[in-house]
Amino acid sequence: VPDLPRVVESIEAVRAAIKAARDAGLVIGLVPTMGALHEGHSRLMEACRAEADFVVVSIFVNPTQFGPSEDFSRYPRTLDADRARCRSAKASLIFAPTVDVMYPNGNSTAYVEVPELSTVLDGASRPGHFRGVATVVMKLFQIVGPCVAHFGQKDYQQLRVIQRMVEDLNLLVSIRPVPTVREPDGLAMSSRNRYLNPDERRAATVLWRALNAATDAVHKGERSADRIRQILRQTIESETRARLDYAEVADAATLSPLNEIVPEVAAVALLAVRLGPARLIDNTLLRLGAETPDVARDPSAKGDPE
Ligand code: PAF
Repeated sequence: VPDLPRVVESIEAVRAAIKAARDAGLVIGLVPTMGALHEGHSRLMEACRAEADFVVVSIFVNPTQFGPSEDFSRYPRTLDADRARCRSAKASLIFAPTVDVMYPNGNSTAYVEVPELSTVLDGASRPGHFRGVATVVMKLFQIVGPCVAHFGQKDYQQLRVIQRMVEDLNLLVSIRPVPTVREPDGLAMSSRNRYLNPDERRAATVLWRALNAATDAVHKGERSADRIRQILRQTIESETRARLDYAEVADAATLSPLNEIVPEVAAVALLAVRLGPARLIDNTLLRLGAETPDVARDPSAKGDPE
């Protein structure tokens, strides 16, 4: 089909295409993915296309971010469908390298680590995960060059790790966070949702219900982070199929656990829950509601970390 975006496998080919676009004065955009694209990825690509003329979508199931007992080999690979979705979102080029292209010497000898943000939450449950993410994203940034790059807020900790890497290493990449896209019943879209059987799929709304219960509590005046953690935990535990990995209320910038929700510090509630074969994550920023009008008035109050 002629109007499908071209798929290139080699670093030379993607660099040549990007150089031609850059020489023609086009702004380059990048949407890094592991494929199995869904509506959430479409929003990333559309947001990227809205500010970049030439959007590169990378599709690479990155082995270095999977633990030995994780789902690397069964992670869904759906290149034909992905390509059709890239076309609908007006992506310009797909970079789909093999593992050998990205890691020609076997494992990397050099890794990028963002230790402060990578050892808590998902980093505690998945040792080495964020080192693998930061390393492959750094490699993609080196391959693509200066660009705007779009990442979903669904993977909140990943977003913070990448933002921090870009700041700390002065990379010429502008990171754009894109809000989580949800199914009509609130479940955050994820390629891993397809691991769920119908019963587990119904139970999976418990993450969104828990986050809403936390948000409601904050709107009603709850300020104790422990109490909000308890609300999150209790909601997850009310679903017998769900096994809680973590429920945290953290500083949205540093991801350190909070004691209290205060206007000066943006807060985020984060969850990881196992349901059958899937491990699902979700999060929401906890905003102080109308009962604290001084937040809105105070120009020095921190808003969202983005
Ligand atoms: O979010 C993902 O799909 C992956 O972690 C990423 C950013 C493409 C790195 O492999």
